Amino acid sequence: MTEFSYCMPSRIVLGKGSTARLKQYIQGDRVLIICDPFLYQSGAAERIGANLEGCTVSYFHAIEPNPSCESVDAAAEAARALGAQTVVGIGGGSSMDVSKIVSCLAGDEGSIYDYYSGGTRTLSPRTVRLICIPTTAGTGSEVTNVGVFTNKKKGIKMPFVTDQFWPDVALLDPELTYSLPPAVTASTGMDAFCHAIEAYWNKESQPICDALAVEAMRLVLAHIKAAYDDGNSETAREQMQLASLLAGVAFSQTRTTGIHAVSFPLTTEYGASHGTACSITLPAFIRISGEGAQAKMDRLCAALGYESIPQFADAVEALMVSMNMPTRLSQLGVQEDALEHIAQVGLGAAIIQLTPAVMNQETVTALLRSIL
Ligand SMILES: [Fe+2]
Repeated sequence: MTEFSYCMPSRIVLGKGSTARLKQYIQGDRVLIICDPFLYQSGAAERIGANLEGCTVSYFHAIEPNPSCESVDAAAEAARALGAQTVVGIGGGSSMDVSKIVSCLAGDEGSIYDYYSGGTRTLSPRTVRLICIPTTAGTGSEVTNVGVFTNKKKGIKMPFVTDQFWPDVALLDPELTYSLPPAVTASTGMDAFCHAIEAYWNKESQPICDALAVEAMRLVLAHIKAAYDDGNSETAREQMQLASLLAGVAFSQTRTTGIHAVSFPLTTEYGASHGTACSITLPAFIRISGEGAQAKMDRLCAALGYESIPQFADAVEALMVSMNMPTRLSQLGVQEDALEHIAQVGLGAAIIQLTPAVMNQETVTALLRSIL
């Protein structure tokens, strides 16, 4: 008996040069663009903003990786001061995640701390339009209702999930990814692969997402190395952005699993980028996935051209090595005596129990030890 629910309220627009049409998607004429300092200084954000002729456009460009609640509050203040009617998040996951909460807070009051991480207030219905424009091919944040923020007071990074965060428009322009350096292409692209496989083997998986996830994995395997080797390859860049999008839609319905749960301490405590922190455990999680999803993983292996789960895991690991990605925790500076702690923090994220294998202190520590 198949039962599922599927919800995708965001308009999705993908195409080379599509950001030139940004103006047709905005509401009102006061627009706050949120991005990181690099995108602003390089002129890329302003080139996109230049499509909003006749509008009052303001830029908040102090977004750091793993954005803090303090950055969110500062951006929300900028949105209120402008009287923003549309918030546009341009960038990787950080800028898009901040744009989600800022589009809510702009028309509401208070701090993110009032609503999240122990806060007791509930966000009012969002009145400000939200548009997300990814500049990497990986996070999928443009098509999810999740924002991940870092509570510096508690030293933790936690997801914030609300239907208010579905962007009104996800605008994907592959041209924006041409300038990504190879290491970012690799880590963000493998993040997309993690989204796809975690949607697929998820205990909450469902047929629509399965179909999207398998295609996303096929596209990553077919194009990531070409995008890594030649950033100007139009085909590889476009297909990687499509892969990221499909994977994003897939995991937006199912959420992720152990790979993302364990990535949180690797990012906050070891400084690994999100994509690196996720993909470093990917081969190990593939190896144990047969425990609860053997038949489904057999079908996946067949669809992707592998004979077995171990062969699939080895191929993914070899692909990562070919792109100079770390595959051992020790390469991030993790030592043996920290494994129990990393497992404990990972187990603190509820999504870890969506993994198709027994996840407890003993099994997660053993998994981490296998890739030390
Ligand atoms: Fe991710």
